[in-house]
Amino acid sequence: MASSMRSLLSDHSRYVESFRLFLENSTEHQCMLEFIEKKLPGIISSIGNGKSAINILSVGGGSGEIDLQILAEVQAKYPGVAINNEVIEPSGEQILSYKERVAKTSNLENIKFTWHKETSSEYESRMNEKKEFKKWDFIHMIQMLYYVKDIRTTIQYFQGLLEAEGKLLIIFVSETSGWANLWRKFGLRLPRNDLCLYASSADIKELLDTVGLKYQDYELPSTMDITNCFVKGNKDGELLLDFLTETCNFSKTAPLDLKTEIMEELKDPECSKEKDGKVFFNNNLNAIVIEP
Ligand SMILES: C[S@@+](CC[C@H](N)C(=O)[O-])C[C@H]1O[C@@H](n2cnc3c(N)ncnc32)[C@H](O)[C@@H]1O
Repeated sequence: MASSMRSLLSDHSRYVESFRLFLENSTEHQCMLEFIEKKLPGIISSIGNGKSAINILSVGGGSGEIDLQILAEVQAKYPGVAINNEVIEPSGEQILSYKERVAKTSNLENIKFTWHKETSSEYESRMNEKKEFKKWDFIHMIQMLYYVKDIRTTIQYFQGLLEAEGKLLIIFVSETSGWANLWRKFGLRLPRNDLCLYASSADIKELLDTVGLKYQDYELPSTMDITNCFVKGNKDGELLLDFLTETCNFSKTAPLDLKTEIMEELKDPECSKEKDGKVFFNNNLNAIVIEP
């Protein structure tokens, strides 16, 4: 690996900008919304039984777009029941966007929002220091487990905080996605540090089986239009390429051989399909629901 390549997460503004472009060019949130509409009501069908308030913990909630959809489903399932929604999110920028979104959304009167500007492991340490072991009815970790030091211990910690009828929802790239293929082939040559783990849902399910946690999983088909990645000098394409490789300024800092191989791989049927002159990367996700 060339020493000049560094993880995209080391430049937070660039990360947020490339993530925003990724959302604009993919069906990432649409497929999650479909899942939330169709499957979530069944998943949360007993989390609030007999409760005067429902406690929800969002880990890596980002700017809250998906969180608010989840909350709307919980409100619909448990009309009038108070909801305590706490968010663990290390990025101040994301928290600000989340607060702005809440401010302009109606029907949130029965929801109390609390934001913790910290990582999941900082939250865990803080709670351990305070000897606080608050239990939760619903915990979700949507597209964030790539960024923890240890996926297994993180899942085990949060699963241990579930109420008897609680559920832990993880959304992660599917083992059938282009991501899994790309990372399997190139993960070792991309900036590898404890800020980004090149894993897929197969790794998560394997570790859940190993530690004996029960779960159900759902495949969420999704695509991402990466046509601009192949247009030389296209700024959006460069940012998307950064997001795909989790590398800051990939096209300027990657060694030529790696760049050539990755650009070829991105067009390979194991990663993408070409349609009407556009290249659609397989962005399939897996939703994994874990029980207490
Ligand atoms: C890909 S975004 C997903 C945001 C949101 N859940 C969604 O799906 O739209 C990942 C989020 O996880 C946050 N994050 C990164 N490392 C984290 C950590 N160690 N603990 C908690 N959140 C983290 C990032 O700041 C970012 O907002």
